[in-house]
Amino acid sequence: MNCSKKLKGSELLELIAWGRAELLRAGIEEAQEECERILMKLCGCSRSRIYLEEHELDASGTRERFLALLEKRVQRIPLAYLLKEADFWQETLYVDERCLIPRPETEILVEVVIREIGKAPPPGPLPGGEGKKRTPLLGERLGEGENVFSFLDIGTGSGAIAIAILRAFKNAYGTMLDISGEALEVAFENLKRYKLEERAVLVQGNIFNGSGEVFPHPGPLPEGEGKNRKPLPGGEGGVRGLDKWDLIVSNPPYLSEEDWKEVQEELRFEPKGALDGGKDGLDFYRKIISGAKDRLTCGGMIALEVGQGQTEQVSKWLQTAGYDNIQRFKDLLGIERVVIARKGTG
Ligand SMILES: C[S@@+](CC[C@H](N)C(=O)[O-])C[C@H]1O[C@@H](n2cnc3c(N)ncnc32)[C@H](O)[C@@H]1O
Repeated sequence: MNCSKKLKGSELLELIAWGRAELLRAGIEEAQEECERILMKLCGCSRSRIYLEEHELDASGTRERFLALLEKRVQRIPLAYLLKEADFWQETLYVDERCLIPRPETEILVEVVIREIGKAPPPGPLPGGEGKKRTPLLGERLGEGENVFSFLDIGTGSGAIAIAILRAFKNAYGTMLDISGEALEVAFENLKRYKLEERAVLVQGNIFNGSGEVFPHPGPLPEGEGKNRKPLPGGEGGVRGLDKWDLIVSNPPYLSEEDWKEVQEELRFEPKGALDGGKDGLDFYRKIISGAKDRLTCGGMIALEVGQGQTEQVSKWLQTAGYDNIQRFKDLLGIERVVIARKGTG
């Protein structure tokens, strides 16, 4: 048996055991997993490779960097901010303090949206003329016109939702709106990471006053050879003027004043503007639901992530606003997390 290997392996286990104890003492429950994730990042390898391979902890500076990260983590700075990355859906996104860390709950929203968009249309043509009742599925309209569909992601943050949709559908074009220029800088990083800049436009705007500016300004369309940006659907002016979309999706801030008093320490490191949904947590839903209908194409879909206990009220508002096919979706714990509805064709 190779003695140096054995020694290195035991050093690593000692380091993990020490780190785990420190994190547990700081009240962090997933201590072992977090230590492993830090080492995976520092050593650039998979979880199993951490244990199977030989690592030069001192010569490579790994031990020192591990200790430095642990010191910050015990102050409850979220691990994703320390590692500058978060796994979301099928992507690994760049994240830092400028944006909210995408959450597993939001993957439910993405899953529902992708499933709805991809639904195969029922056989036969849409009923026309008399008895025209059925709202066409988004997928049914993809064959029409320019063969693209457009969506608006309100409060895009790191770009997590929009990027998942853009990667799932090559004919999707996204408008990614956020009030925070800093969050949009992160979203732009992620668009570049997945080479999606051509199919997305970032808009810095406030849904409460309807303002919106393309961010960063894309400049004129490049001419001739080497051009890499396609005209956006609806034309440049259409996007700048925030036109209509086939899908409006949002995971808006939804913590109420009460919720805010009881949040985990980690949340205090995230931008408050990404979490604060006003007194009852519902400010954004009121605004989005009332404003979205005029911004949706006929048959278009609105899809919202909601906080625990908010689906009832959000569904009622959708109903009052005249949306069709209101549906709710639960997470694995049975908590309703997503509400979707359609704008009828009538
Ligand atoms: C809960 S975060 C969602 C981030 C991302 N979509 C996700 O799911 O991880 C809400 C986002 O809404 C943005 N936001 C807050 N107020 C806004 C406003 N008035 N208009 C537009 N965006 C706003 C925040 O900056 C933040 O990025």
